[in-house]
Amino acid sequence: MSLLQVKNLGVQFATHDGVVTAVNGVNFELDPGQTLGIVGESGSGKSQSVLAMMGLLAKNGSTTGEALFQGRNLLAMDAHELNRIRGDRLSMIFQDPMTSLNPYLTVERQMTEVLELHKNMSRGQAKKRALDLLEAVRIPDAARRITMYPHEFSGGMRQRVMIAMALLCEPEVLIADEPTTALDVTVQAQILTLLKELQRDFGTAIIMITHDLGVVAGLCNKVMVMYGGRVMEYAAADRIFYQPSHPYTIGLLGALPRLDHDGSELVSIPGNPPNMAHMPAGCPFAERCTHRKDRCQSELPLLHPASHDGQVLRACHMPSQELIALNEAEIHHV
Ligand SMILES: Nc1ncnc2c1ncn2[C@@H]1O[C@H](COP(=O)(O)OP(=O)(O)OP(=O)(O)O)[C@@H](O)[C@H]1O
Ligand SMILES: [Mg+2]
Repeated sequence: MSLLQVKNLGVQFATHDGVVTAVNGVNFELDPGQTLGIVGESGSGKSQSVLAMMGLLAKNGSTTGEALFQGRNLLAMDAHELNRIRGDRLSMIFQDPMTSLNPYLTVERQMTEVLELHKNMSRGQAKKRALDLLEAVRIPDAARRITMYPHEFSGGMRQRVMIAMALLCEPEVLIADEPTTALDVTVQAQILTLLKELQRDFGTAIIMITHDLGVVAGLCNKVMVMYGGRVMEYAAADRIFYQPSHPYTIGLLGALPRLDHDGSELVSIPGNPPNMAHMPAGCPFAERCTHRKDRCQSELPLLHPASHDGQVLRACHMPSQELIALNEAEIHHV
């Protein structure tokens, strides 16, 4: 049994403009110690997919499908049951650490409080564990810094504190939603290395949400590429990088050579993501896809196995071999 098994997950929002389907038919599995990357442009449904599992959708949101955590459906749990799992077995870190840290409490107080509550530890035991974790996330001089307030830390250090907080109860799954986007490149790299080391040491499974395929390269086993609330491609990370089989993935990789560029610079995908309140009938990506055929605009491609070994799932009408061959030929040509 997988640690986490998401089946046909959907997220809907009731709005003045009608129902917005932010997430549609998402399936994935996560095993202990694995890392799944969820990648896509802004508004593709990455955050809402995981917020749904955590019971953290906005008030106008509702879900369909299942998210089985160790066999139990998170989407059907009442608030009390979900509260026990959240923060303890399933933990989430955000782009802005201040959404998870309390500005009015010292780091020590907020860390020990969690352990006293979830793990019935004494204050002394809790402080020892909190210190151990601050050291694990490489906060220098942790014994002194633990007495400080969140605003006294730099951005990168605050992000480390938040990761330490998220690991306090040794969660089975750590969900990281753009945890490094707000940081400068060097600090970003340090945090990613840290996550990799923590995963090795603690065996935590990670879901990493990011705009940036570069971030998932060194970290993820599997990658799910989302667009318009749907999964476009789902495969092992190296398949996604070395043999992408969906035009959107190719676009994200910046590997789609265009005649007006010499191929040496990264090319972002022209156009904008669709309006979620008025989704097209066919493929959500059709409007921006250079390989679009008539069928793509009228008929929604369903996610299906694309490789002989069944390890690559893709939602595209164009045969994958044709696309891969074309892409490779184009790269070769430039
Ligand atoms: N409360 C809400 N009411 C209506 N629509 C919403 C609500 N919350 C989110 N949405 C819509 O759901 C869609 C998916 O949002 P989501 O937050 O998952 O995007 P994302 O992929 O995480 O993007 P980003 O990279 O910008 O964080 C967006 O189109 C967004 O406008
Ligand atoms: Mg988001």
